[in-house]
Amino acid sequence: MYQFDQSLELFNRASKVIPGGIYGHVTPATVIPGASPYYASKAEGAYYWDADNNKYIDFMCGYGPTILGYNHPEIEEAAREQKLKGSVFNHPTDKMVELAEVLTERINFADWAVFAKNGSDLTTWAVQVARETTGNKGILKAKGSYHGVDAWCSPGKGGIIDEDLANVYHFEWNDLQNFEEEFQKNLQNLACVILTPYHHPVFQDNLLADSDFLPNIQKICNKHGVVFILDDVRAGFRLHENGSHEYFNFQPDISVYCKALGNGHAISAAVGRDHLKVPASKVFLTGSYWNDAVSMAAAIQCLKIVQRDKVPDIVEKLGSQLKAGLEKTALKHGFELKITGPVSMPYLRFKDEDNLYKIQEFCKICISKGAFFHPHHNWFLSAAHKEKEILDAIQIADFAFAKMKPNE
Ligand SMILES: Cc1ncc(COP(=O)(O)O)c(C=O)c1O
Repeated sequence: MYQFDQSLELFNRASKVIPGGIYGHVTPATVIPGASPYYASKAEGAYYWDADNNKYIDFMCGYGPTILGYNHPEIEEAAREQKLKGSVFNHPTDKMVELAEVLTERINFADWAVFAKNGSDLTTWAVQVARETTGNKGILKAKGSYHGVDAWCSPGKGGIIDEDLANVYHFEWNDLQNFEEEFQKNLQNLACVILTPYHHPVFQDNLLADSDFLPNIQKICNKHGVVFILDDVRAGFRLHENGSHEYFNFQPDISVYCKALGNGHAISAAVGRDHLKVPASKVFLTGSYWNDAVSMAAAIQCLKIVQRDKVPDIVEKLGSQLKAGLEKTALKHGFELKITGPVSMPYLRFKDEDNLYKIQEFCKICISKGAFFHPHHNWFLSAAHKEKEILDAIQIADFAFAKMKPNE
């Protein structure tokens, strides 16, 4: 059984000098205290080590970015080659032009691309492009969706004022009638509809849309000149090499990518249609590190490998194996699981409970045996996971289910 002494020691030190000790989505506030690592030290392939040198098969992939696995040789070679020349200059480099060319070639509706460092940078920027385009203020989004930390979409309450939310409207995911009602009600003020390719609200089952939901939203937005923004930050390039809209058969006006784009190198991108290019050029976008050529070199290489190796197929196959193995093993011990979302980004809970107690317990035991599962966030698979890692994880899950007693 793993110990977490160094993690706790670091957390004590951090609490004195960092608000909350650890903040954001990696906060330990949502896991069983002392039953999970709080700090990482190194990673390789499908594995990472925590501050206590405990080793894990990683089913979070840094919450998504490492789609090819940690320290991927071809990505790191491309990054190193650029690093020798430099990273942030007084100007962008040829890497930025090349990356924009790759994205606009790959993404069927895209005529231009811009870059930043985080998903939030560009979901907010895309909303501004929609406002610049339409002259309207309103944002229509799915209830419970996550689009980043800016005031219009932050899930937090601190520092948010009523005015931040004054032009934000909501619809129920996968309910076209409700969407149309909200759309029509707010049309006079509507700049954009923003949504993720599938619904992944926190602490809840993940939901794919019915096959006509997203194409219908596209149609309605097009008809009324409302900008349709796809937030593909979390799923982009894991479901489909050309973006999740191809996986789900629709076309937005702007897509935003981040997590898997640089395989761990900090970069985000937004791509869009030609008619938005002029308004896009009017919305100020910059940052101290936005034109960092190292992450752009990594992204070019990552996009190449995702396509060359058919990575979405690899992670889908691994995800199916993991899902089937966990479900079967759970049943053997009298537990029924509910696994939702795409299989390469599964969200797992115990079917008969909605208070997360059992999933917390399950993850605690798995973590203590070397499989890092998260109790209330969707997991991520990478191309570095092989059958061995899946089978080892299922064996660890078997041990965990055996230790837990059903219906208690
Ligand atoms: C769907 C979605 N949109 C936006 C964001 C924000 O991206 P970032 O945390 O890189 O700012 C995230 C991050 O998890 C996300 O999952």
